[in-house]
Amino acid sequence: MRRPAPRQLLAFLLMLAVVPSFAIAEPAHDARVEDAEPTSSTPAKAPGWAPLGYDAPIPGTYELPPLGEAADGQVLDSDGRRHRLHDFLGDKIVVLSFVYRACPDVNGCPLASHVLTAVQKIILDDPALRDQVRLLSMSFDPRRDRPQDMRDYGLRLARDGADWKFLTTESEAALAPILAAYGQSVRQEHDEKGQPLATFSHILRVYLIDRGKRIRNIYSSSFLHADTLTSDIKTVLQEREQANPQPAVVLDAAMLPHGGDDKRGYERADYETRSTSVAVAGGAATDLLKFQVDPPLGLPPVPVPADNPVTAAKVALGRELFFDRRLSRNNTISCAMCHIPEQGFTSNEIATAVGIEGRSVRRNAPTIYNAAYAELLFHDGRETRLEQQVWGPLLASNEMGNPSIGYVLDKIVALADYNGRFKAAFAGRGPTMETVGMALASYERTLVSANSPFDRWRFGKEAGALTDAAERGFRLFNGKAGCAGCHSIGEKRALFTDQRLHNTGIGYRQTMQTPPRQQRVQLAPGNFVVIDPTVVADVAATPAADLGRYEITEQPNDRWKYKTPSLRNVALTAPYMHDGSLATLRDVVELYDVGGVANEGLDAAIKPLGLDAGEKQDLVAFLESLTGGNVGVIVADAIAAPIGDPR
Ligand code: HEC
Ligand code: HEC
Repeated sequence: MRRPAPRQLLAFLLMLAVVPSFAIAEPAHDARVEDAEPTSSTPAKAPGWAPLGYDAPIPGTYELPPLGEAADGQVLDSDGRRHRLHDFLGDKIVVLSFVYRACPDVNGCPLASHVLTAVQKIILDDPALRDQVRLLSMSFDPRRDRPQDMRDYGLRLARDGADWKFLTTESEAALAPILAAYGQSVRQEHDEKGQPLATFSHILRVYLIDRGKRIRNIYSSSFLHADTLTSDIKTVLQEREQANPQPAVVLDAAMLPHGGDDKRGYERADYETRSTSVAVAGGAATDLLKFQVDPPLGLPPVPVPADNPVTAAKVALGRELFFDRRLSRNNTISCAMCHIPEQGFTSNEIATAVGIEGRSVRRNAPTIYNAAYAELLFHDGRETRLEQQVWGPLLASNEMGNPSIGYVLDKIVALADYNGRFKAAFAGRGPTMETVGMALASYERTLVSANSPFDRWRFGKEAGALTDAAERGFRLFNGKAGCAGCHSIGEKRALFTDQRLHNTGIGYRQTMQTPPRQQRVQLAPGNFVVIDPTVVADVAATPAADLGRYEITEQPNDRWKYKTPSLRNVALTAPYMHDGSLATLRDVVELYDVGGVANEGLDAAIKPLGLDAGEKQDLVAFLESLTGGNVGVIVADAIAAPIGDPR
């Protein structure tokens, strides 16, 4: 998966690191000798001049390990103003090349400028790159390349709207430490009499520098090419998104002395499991009722039906039922095995749920957090009461697989753990269709989660609670991007849903089989492959058709309408949408940016947004700020619950 060039390069670089004075101590390396055809007097043109003879590596499928820090130094911009070189690093990905105007070597500076010009075009044409990358060309001939000369040079190369800066230094003395630090070997050439010529012998080097000011790749003339450089830029950009991966769960380690399903760091090759078998996982029980009685900041009072007031006894009973695997036909699967507490009460690892004996369910398991507030339950809103809803999964042949209500009730009656407890919680009523639903619903009504950074900023007026990016994201969400039109935010509280159903085109795409784009799939710790969906299609069963709300109402206008989910804790609940077809929040934002998937019934509020890359990142930052402050406590409580050992 990794292409060989960077590895050779790494070896080269390590050498540089070990012998930092390499560039200076070694006799001058003539670019023509080291990098191009050694024998010919008119050197063969480097590959960077021609189209790439093979496919550039797919961004994100390989790694670019940091090669070292990008050094600082005193420089001049093309207006003659003094700067630190670091002033131009950090906010964007930077492609830095050292050049000089008079350079006659076809595989030296002209190649660098040619490649950077091509990269400039790619960047300007790609909205995902446009504001993310800066090109820097820095002269190593400060005597002849004064700031105004660099400006003239730049005028020939930089296009409108491009971020391409042309720098030089005050003197050779200011330049020398920079060249040394970058391992850029340069030596002025001399004539027979020892008089300095206007030419330099140098090894072409172009540096890719990330936002952490770390060098991530170095290109010499033998493999500098616009296409590979662009792939590398995208790889570094993607990694930035993955630096905020679907956080397994932001759990407080102190709260989880024995871990549960703890997959933090799973994307790294050196991952070592911290997960613990459920039987020994400790967790820490908590008084859940308090969340229902006094919901966290940002949530309204929890709606409770008059005939099922929440009590501690019912919550305890419902909690036990929720985690009890014996409630399935063959004692293997509980509610919590699809609504996994450590995974935001969803299943992060599968797009659509898998039930008893591995049977597939056609939809994505939604979160149970804040289900208490949902006026419509299930993706198509076919149920409205939590008390009723529970019988859906209990009886579905592909979920918990029970043949009848009576079968489930008989089983509960026979289990010693529940002896007398229904009667105590329900004023003398034993396990019935109603009381089982009432107990589970009571537990679910305590799983309310808010007091997120956003809530503290917006409703708690805590100025520093939100990052600048998330704050900008909020303004987009509420304004230009139009998200709050459906994912509602109130003045005093927010549910992030209008409690209605809409057609965003996801259902249409799924049914009409428009193949999604390539997907990056993790097979094992640190092991990713990019899957072309057409390859999978050959061996996969056709996914079950899904017409959304239409299946309930049979109204043609209801085709592919699904309910607006709340976005609270959305950073924890990947993958997204009713079919789990979008893996990351970035993917969701990209889809809205292009105006969803066009179809006859597409909601009028879904239209192309024209967001730039920074705005998309800001929206994601905002969505990530919606993780509730009490999820750690709730998950720790869940881990402490008994799981119904059938022995
Ligand atoms: C096999 C996996 C699986 C099991 C087991 C399971 N669920 Fe679900 N759950 C789902 C899926 C998938 C959906 C969405 C189905 C749909 O919309 O058609 C869902 C939906 C829900 C919803 C609706 C949430 C919303 O916002 O609309 C609730 C509540 C819920 N389940 C609770 C439970 C309870 C309680 C149990 C145990 C009695 C349970 N689930 C067992 C997979 C499962
Ligand atoms: C017309 C109403 C509407 C608008 C506008 C809208 N959404 Fe949605 N959103 C939905 C619906 C409906 C779904 C569920 C679709 C499905 O399940 O197929 C959804 C799903 C999502 C999800 C996935 C949640 C999950 O748990 O699976 C995210 C994230 C999201 N929207 C964010 C946004 C953002 C960000 C915007 C603005 C750019 C936005 N939405 C604009 C209606 C809307």
